[in-house]
Amino acid sequence: MNSIKTSTDWETSVPSTLDVEHNKPQINEQQQNSLIQRIKQLLIEQNAILVAHYYTDPILQQLADESGGCVADSLEMARFGKESAAEKIVVAGVRFMGETAKILSPEKTIVMPDLKASCSLDLGCTPEDFIPFCDEHPDRTVVVYANTSAQVKARADWVVTSGIATKVVEHLVREGKKILWAPDRHLGKYIQSVTHADMLLWQGSCIVHDEFKADALLALKENNPDAKILVHPESSYTVVEMADVVGSTTQLINAVKTMPDKTFIVATDNRIFYKMQQAAPEKQLIEAPTGGVGATCTMCAHCSWMAMNSLQGILDVLEQDSNHIHVEESVRLKAFASTQRLLDFAATL
Ligand code: 13P
Ligand code: SF4
Repeated sequence: MNSIKTSTDWETSVPSTLDVEHNKPQINEQQQNSLIQRIKQLLIEQNAILVAHYYTDPILQQLADESGGCVADSLEMARFGKESAAEKIVVAGVRFMGETAKILSPEKTIVMPDLKASCSLDLGCTPEDFIPFCDEHPDRTVVVYANTSAQVKARADWVVTSGIATKVVEHLVREGKKILWAPDRHLGKYIQSVTHADMLLWQGSCIVHDEFKADALLALKENNPDAKILVHPESSYTVVEMADVVGSTTQLINAVKTMPDKTFIVATDNRIFYKMQQAAPEKQLIEAPTGGVGATCTMCAHCSWMAMNSLQGILDVLEQDSNHIHVEESVRLKAFASTQRLLDFAATL
């Protein structure tokens, strides 16, 4: 298997989740309720909806649900925004999610509470590095994960999300295609193990899921022998190998809901517990460990970029009509083709 090393210049400036949380102004319940009421009023006045990812603060997830928006995975967020009659979409998530919404809904105004909310997969796969790499491998079908910039999507033949990646690659294998996969090496390796596809892997990774460790997980499992292990495939392969279920955020929530087991160890961002607990209040959820004895963590099972989304940020973008997402039209048209291919494929399943 060939591979390429990704640039890591951005790594030194990644904020820790603890710092992001500490820097948020502390507000009491009354202040929180007044922010929520004001946001709800502005959403109605501006014909806007709030679309939030499962990894955002539960208070934002609750607000999205209550105000007629949605809480979803990255694919469903974009699809919901596209199909909604709203003129403005407030995306509580990370940058690539806002861009995907704009790619699919160019006529709508897309805003985000914090434009600095990025993703290590996106940052580790710049168009400047990625486009020449693709050009060097013209015999390969370029498949990129949704966690990428609009320019990277524009160079791809297919955009996929974790929930559908395996099925798309199986389809490409049946067509006899060789694949260039980017950016997540762990997800790429997992897909390769399931499909046996010929895949050239970009070496990016999610710095949140990278912190889950197999040896500490094994010790936790020994203390909870009846617990089932649920793992997002951005985790390292040694963690994925221990899983009872490997799946996207939505697939992991469905597993908690539908499996008869009572206890689950969950290896993904812990803000997903809000929806898991809503779906199955009687089940016990345990956070997968982000290290062994004495280990420290920067993300500690919660993405610091997702943590940048706040009630105050949402209110600010609605009041000031700020933080618009723009995607240059020639880039958008190409990124639309590879993203729409995913939606069309999903509709056939
Ligand atoms: P999903 O597509 O499963 O929502 O995952 C997005 C993500 O960023 C996971 O880290
Ligand atoms: Fe990116 Fe990982 Fe954060 Fe998801 S959890 S947005 S993949 S850094």
